[in-house]
Amino acid sequence: MRELAGKTAFVTGGASGIGFALGRAFAEAGMKVMLGDIEADALETAVKSLHNSDVRGVACDVTDPASVERAAKASFEAFGNVHVVCNNAGVAAGGGIDSISLDSWKWVLDVNLMGVLHGIRTFLPHIRAHGEGGHFVNTASMAGMVSGLGFSPYHASKFAVVTMSEGLAVQLKPLGIGVSVLCPGFVRTRIGESARNRPEQYGPAQTLDPASPAAALVAQIAQLIESGLDPADVAAQVLKAIREDELYVFTHPEMRAEAEQRFTAILAAMDKSAAR
Ligand SMILES: NC(=O)c1ccc[n+]([C@@H]2O[C@H](COP(=O)([O-])OP(=O)(O)OC[C@H]3O[C@@H](n4cnc5c(N)ncnc54)[C@H](O)[C@@H]3O)[C@@H](O)[C@H]2O)c1
Repeated sequence: MRELAGKTAFVTGGASGIGFALGRAFAEAGMKVMLGDIEADALETAVKSLHNSDVRGVACDVTDPASVERAAKASFEAFGNVHVVCNNAGVAAGGGIDSISLDSWKWVLDVNLMGVLHGIRTFLPHIRAHGEGGHFVNTASMAGMVSGLGFSPYHASKFAVVTMSEGLAVQLKPLGIGVSVLCPGFVRTRIGESARNRPEQYGPAQTLDPASPAAALVAQIAQLIESGLDPADVAAQVLKAIREDELYVFTHPEMRAEAEQRFTAILAAMDKSAAR
């Protein structure tokens, strides 16, 4: 979608981090913006901070399809047709391989995977119907490209978002609707404090034994996030990808070696199979 000015964007997880940076960048590009988020106070502060009457906020819990529908309706009422949909809300929860609770698995998959699906199912019929073009941006992660420590709901959810986006892109191309899948490495946001938005239905966040390897890993990741990329840089690359209709948005090219290692191992296994 070459021309963004005058169009409308809907962004989930828009009260913080990457989602907020996307909202700001869209507004600066002359778009109308609806930020959706589960955290009401942060959302209100985020919207106010942009001082722009074309930026609004709406309560939206991406785990609940009815909530996403309501947020979409509010966007249509406020701004008319929506063109860019960023399914960006995400949470992380970890622990050791045998200590991640089922509730944590469900929470992370509900937000990171089902949340993306709910956004697609809600907005796709609308974008098809208005026929003015559109673009979906699904936030995955480099955790959706390389397994790293693997066996975690976060990695599982992000791999799923990558494949979902790849499939969607093929199916929507003939309709003139673009798809990008955003795969950042570490970005300076509040993702490490995801538990602040963990609904009661998923039980309490797990507390880690400070002496455990899992706690050491969490501390290491917190440092990497702290020194990560500025979310504004990520947002700028997303806008470029929308304008140039690019599927993959990689913001951390220094992680190429890790991707190559995984793909090389897969190809080598296939070659071995072919040689049998
Ligand atoms: N920060 C990183 O290093 C990094 C790297 C790769 C990918 N990502 C992805 O970027 C996306 C944005 O995360 P971030 O890093 O900006 O973190 P963040 O915590 O700063 O922002 C996430 C936002 O999502 C919202 N949210 C949480 N649960 C929600 C729900 N059920 N419904 C609606 N909104 C909800 C939060 O309130 C918050 O405003 C996530 O999908 C995350 O997995 C982050």
